Amino acid sequence: MEKIRTIEWKNNHVMMIDQRLLPHQEIFVQCKTYKDIACAIQTMVIRGAPAIGVAAAMGIALGVKKSKAKNYSSLKKEFLKIYEILYASRPTAVNLRWGLERMKKLFYSLKNTSLEKIKLTLEKEALYIYEEDIKINRKMGANGKQFIQDGFNVMTYCNTGALATAGYGTALGVIRAAHEEGKKIHVYVCETRPYLQGLRLTSWECYKEGISQTVICDNMAASVMAKNKINAIFVGADRIAKNGDTANKVGTYSLAVLAKYHHIPFYVVAPTSTIDSTCPDGSHIPIEERNPKEVTHIKNQPVGLKKVNVYNPSFDVTPHELILAIITEKGVLRLNSA
Ligand code: MRU
Repeated sequence: MEKIRTIEWKNNHVMMIDQRLLPHQEIFVQCKTYKDIACAIQTMVIRGAPAIGVAAAMGIALGVKKSKAKNYSSLKKEFLKIYEILYASRPTAVNLRWGLERMKKLFYSLKNTSLEKIKLTLEKEALYIYEEDIKINRKMGANGKQFIQDGFNVMTYCNTGALATAGYGTALGVIRAAHEEGKKIHVYVCETRPYLQGLRLTSWECYKEGISQTVICDNMAASVMAKNKINAIFVGADRIAKNGDTANKVGTYSLAVLAKYHHIPFYVVAPTSTIDSTCPDGSHIPIEERNPKEVTHIKNQPVGLKKVNVYNPSFDVTPHELILAIITEKGVLRLNSA
């Protein structure tokens, strides 16, 4: 049983821990409709690529379950509307599309089935996707922990733990697996401006797991590396193009460049559902731009000038040349030599 319940299916609603309020308040949000789920994804109640994929699948199941359609063709119309609304909630993490497509394929295969059975089958599938995600994360942990030796200092970025997935985590899952094996490790947690997923969420997860940590501002990463303190860096991914270019939280690219200069192995940890085989390279990955207030304000308090030009891309693309290997549930894909 996971210590952190990121998202839970509750028969006729979905519960999510409100990640905007962590680590100081542990409040759960109740999503009664698929629109509530789309809104929760858009407003960052839930975030992290695999968690968004699970939420989208549950959104479909909830929307279809609550439909009053009397036949397959009207249900199909509603299904496609639910699909579109969830699809539009966030653009970069391909796991969202992956979860929706999986539900769509199943829905289409049930054309000659009773509406009751369709509703039940979609609900079961969403729950299966949830359970499967936790298993996949544990497999990635098992595949990746070999790269963390006893006594290692590792660095991580954004939040890639239980909160970013159905449970356990991707990059933080690898760190957890090494910790669970009894290796003595220390994690440098980058704060991850502007949304502070590292400071607020990863640090909280490390605390809960009893993993030794030091939080640093993002601009301290270079000097921490220069002092020879970091043995390996583990990050997650929101979309991996066919050539290995990887979109992840903005700032990941800077870490990868720094890692190359300091000869530190740089690993991406992601389920195969994050690989977009329709995307040839990183230049084709849509990058979400978010509200400028995330940059100029902290907790709704203005810190900089109120009227100033702001650029706030939520993700950046790390070229495949900078990634040593991609750790997936199916194995380790080596992209470069050390
Ligand atoms: O904007 P967010 O918080 O959804 O961004 C999350 C990340 O960039 C994570 O690193 C990524 O989704 C991998 S999580 C397992």
